[in-house]
Amino acid sequence: MNKTNPIGIFDSGVGGTSIFKEVHRLLPLEHIIYLADSKNAPYGERSAAEIMELSHKNTSKLVKAGCKLIIVACNTATTNAITYLRKTFDVPIIGIEPAIKPAALNSKNKVIGILATKGTLSSELFTKTSDLFTKNIEVIEVVGKGLVEAIEAGKENDPVTLKLLEKLLQPMLAKEIDYLVLGCSHYPYLIPQLKKLLPKKVNIIDSGRGVARQTKIVLKSLDLLNEEPQFKKPQFYTNKDIKVLAHLIEAGKNNFNVSYLDF
Ligand code: SIN
Repeated sequence: MNKTNPIGIFDSGVGGTSIFKEVHRLLPLEHIIYLADSKNAPYGERSAAEIMELSHKNTSKLVKAGCKLIIVACNTATTNAITYLRKTFDVPIIGIEPAIKPAALNSKNKVIGILATKGTLSSELFTKTSDLFTKNIEVIEVVGKGLVEAIEAGKENDPVTLKLLEKLLQPMLAKEIDYLVLGCSHYPYLIPQLKKLLPKKVNIIDSGRGVARQTKIVLKSLDLLNEEPQFKKPQFYTNKDIKVLAHLIEAGKNNFNVSYLDF
């Protein structure tokens, strides 16, 4: 494997671009290929077997494209399929887990909220991580049903989305959380809306920076960090409409390539 080979990132759709942005910011010399499986979004309501099958398909595509490392930029795919992917493919694979640990360690109220998909919250890996770090903490788990669909449709500011968010936050507000953990890579695109609905004392945390840092550590340890000037712009593929994806990554301004691909 060469240092100049790309990093592969996949998600159930456009949400993983929130992870891409942090990886690209920290590692600007890396060429990145991003797969948005929007045709099959949301993964969060699917069975574990389906999530594994879709994750296999995406990883296989990225491995065939010569990726030196794969980032599973989808919490639902990570919690349900990462163990299987690591056993199946001979490349380093990084997943994304909700930032429960920092929220639990820093919470003054000892009450934190976690917003994630049904697939993530019901997974074994999530339960294990949550139990490990939240012994003396009350955790208010809420399934963000409908939010991924809204973001996939480019409707972050739609009044229906705002009403839905307001309703989802109710149980967390009632318990006076002081940390909100975003357990889905789509949700960072709702941070401006969340900030308007939550009291100022509530800290919102997501996993993007942690994933980027971990990617750098793993590449360095394998002597795979690219140090050459990078002339290849990140390449994005979607198997649905390219408009929402192009808008979220500001493809025009950044000169990123976005193409349709039937995968
Ligand atoms: C989904 O596709 O339902 C959500 C993706 C995620 O969990 O990050």
